[in-house]
Amino acid sequence: MTTLRLGDIAPDFTQDSTAGKISFHEWAGDAWVLLFSHPADFTPVCTTELGKTAALSAEFAKRKVKPIAISVDPLDAHGTWVKDINETQNTTVNFPILADADKTVASLYDMIHPNASTTATVRSVFIIDPKKVIRTTFTYPASTGRNFNEILRVIDSLQLTDSHKVATPADWQDGDDVVIVPSVQDPAELAERFPKGFKVVRPYLRVTPQPNKS
Ligand code: BEZ
Repeated sequence: MTTLRLGDIAPDFTQDSTAGKISFHEWAGDAWVLLFSHPADFTPVCTTELGKTAALSAEFAKRKVKPIAISVDPLDAHGTWVKDINETQNTTVNFPILADADKTVASLYDMIHPNASTTATVRSVFIIDPKKVIRTTFTYPASTGRNFNEILRVIDSLQLTDSHKVATPADWQDGDDVVIVPSVQDPAELAERFPKGFKVVRPYLRVTPQPNKS
């Protein structure tokens, strides 16, 4: 196991899931992927997290993102638990949950942090782009459920900044002003790329309306 860092290729694997055996890269195809681990089935926070992911499925689909969850619980446990999630969270889990009982994926992605728990996966998040490059990682403890709207916000930022020479400031939400990356200095290029204009707060801090919004 090596530490996975931003810019690395997401390791490929084959593992069982609630949607059958999954060969990860093939399954991902040309979509973005949200790969996220949870500590254990039949636990309260995890139940709300998977329910929330299912409730946001239209938002993930709009961004061409395929969610896939993972814990080290076996497939039969996932199957029973999904019924609980659907019933208690009033939703339909429509994404795969990897059954990583042999810890293939947990090891590859360093999802077990032994000083936190020797057996359960922590709450790891990997956002992976269509070229299989890891673009975002973060890790939460078992006691803290993640904010899935924040995950959507990060994906919005990644997709926007991949196609425009901008970056997104603190607490940015889709539609807010953005900042121009420092590498764009040529006045002709600035005029062409930012026809709505921009405000120079400091030479390194230039604010412009979000380019892909009318
Ligand atoms: C939970 O998902 O609720 C949970 C899982 C492991 C430890 C603590 C909470």
